[in-house]
Amino acid sequence: MTSGRHFLQIPGPTNVPERVLRAMDRPVPDHRGPEMPSLVAEIRNGLRAIFRSERGEPVLFPGSGTGAWEASIVNTLSPGERVLSFENGHFAHLYGDAARKLAMQVDEVKLRWGDAVTESDIQANLKPEHRAVLIVHNETSTGVTTDVAAVRRAIDRTGLEPLLLVDVVSALGSIDFRMDEWRVDVALTGTQKGLMLPPGGAILCVGPRALEAAEKNRTPRYFYDWRPVIRDMQQGFFPYTPPTLLLFGLREALRMLLDEGLDNVLARHARLAEATREAVSAWGLKMLAGDPARASNSLTAVVVDAIDSGAVVKVAAERLNLALGVGLGQLRGRVFRIGHLGSLNELEVLATLAGTELALLYSGQTIELGVGVAAAQRFFAGIPAAAPPQSAKPRVATPERVG
Ligand SMILES: Cc1ncc(COP(=O)(O)O)c(C=O)c1O
Repeated sequence: MTSGRHFLQIPGPTNVPERVLRAMDRPVPDHRGPEMPSLVAEIRNGLRAIFRSERGEPVLFPGSGTGAWEASIVNTLSPGERVLSFENGHFAHLYGDAARKLAMQVDEVKLRWGDAVTESDIQANLKPEHRAVLIVHNETSTGVTTDVAAVRRAIDRTGLEPLLLVDVVSALGSIDFRMDEWRVDVALTGTQKGLMLPPGGAILCVGPRALEAAEKNRTPRYFYDWRPVIRDMQQGFFPYTPPTLLLFGLREALRMLLDEGLDNVLARHARLAEATREAVSAWGLKMLAGDPARASNSLTAVVVDAIDSGAVVKVAAERLNLALGVGLGQLRGRVFRIGHLGSLNELEVLATLAGTELALLYSGQTIELGVGVAAAQRFFAGIPAAAPPQSAKPRVATPERVG
C-alpha cells in the first residue's frame, strides 16, 4: 500500500510537520557565517522555554538520546562514583547500563516494568554515597510517566544532595516538565520525539550544579565535553560542524510549540492520550501501566494475551502503512505501543485507532470493529462513555501477568 500518507505512530521518531520540513529545505549555510548567531540565540531561548529553565544552558550535539545519556554521565561523574538508577523499563535499564559501561558504580533497583519510580523507591534506596540519581521521566517501553516533582521532594526529604539527571526523551514537549522548579541538574532528549524533527540531534539542558561538576570530574571526554559547546553556543557557533539544516528545523519547531503555547501543547497531548486509553478500554484490552494515573500522555502500551504483539505491528505496517511500536526487551510479543506525541491531531488519532483495530483483527484478536474509534470519538465530543463490552476486563494489567 504505497499511496496516501504513511502513519508513523511509533513513540518516536514522530511526524515532521510541513512547516519544519520547509524550514529545512534550503541551501546548506556556512556554519561560521553571519546567519548563525541569531539562529542559535533563538534556539537557546526556545529550548529554555520548553525545558522551563531560565538558568539552564542548552547544549546540542549531533547524535541521539543515547549520545545525550553519555554526555550527561561523562560530564558530571568521575570513574567509580556511585549512582542510583531504577530499572522500570527498557530505556531506564539502558541509561543505567551506559553509566556502568562508562565506569560508574551503578546501584540499579529493579521495579516492575509498567510501574513508575515512587517517592518511597527514592527514600528506601538513596544513600549518602550516591553522587547522582538517574530517572527516565517517561519510560517509552512501558508507557509510564514518573512524577519527577515527587522524586525531587523525596530526595529533599533525605537531606542528601545527589545530582538529578533526567531523561526526558519521550516527555519533553508532550508531558509537563519543569527543569528549574524541580531542580533537575541535567535534562536530556533527542530531536525526533516531541520536538517534531528528524533524528540526528542530542539536546541537553544543564543546570548550575552540573556545570560545576563538569569542571571537576575526571572522566576523559572529548566530543561529548559540553564545556566548549556551551562556550561557543553562547556566541552563536559550535566547536564542531553542526547539523545546520536540523538547526533551521529546530528553530521552526520551537516557534510552532511556542506559538501554540506550551500549556496548550501539553493539554492537547493529555486529550489525545485519554482518547487512546478510552479506545483500549473499549477493545477490552489492558494497558501495561500499573497505575492509570501514571499512564503516559505520549504513548500507550497495550498488552495482548491471546496473540503475538509483533504480529499486530507487522500486519499494520504491511497492510495498512501504519507504524506501531513493538514490545521491547522482556515485553517483546506481549505489548505493542501506540505513539501519540509530537505533531498530531484528533483526526489522526482516530485514524490510528481505526488502523489498530484492523491490525488486531487481522492478527487474530477477537475484537468488535469500531468500538475503540467510537469510544475515542465520544471522548472528543464530550459524550459520556458507553457501558463497557461484556468481554471487557479491567483496564490495567495485573502485576503477576506482566511483571
Ligand atoms: C526514554 C528514552 N530514552 C532514550 C532513548 C534512546 O534515544 P535514541 O534512540 O535517540 O538514541 C529512547 C529512544 O526511544 C527513549 O525513548
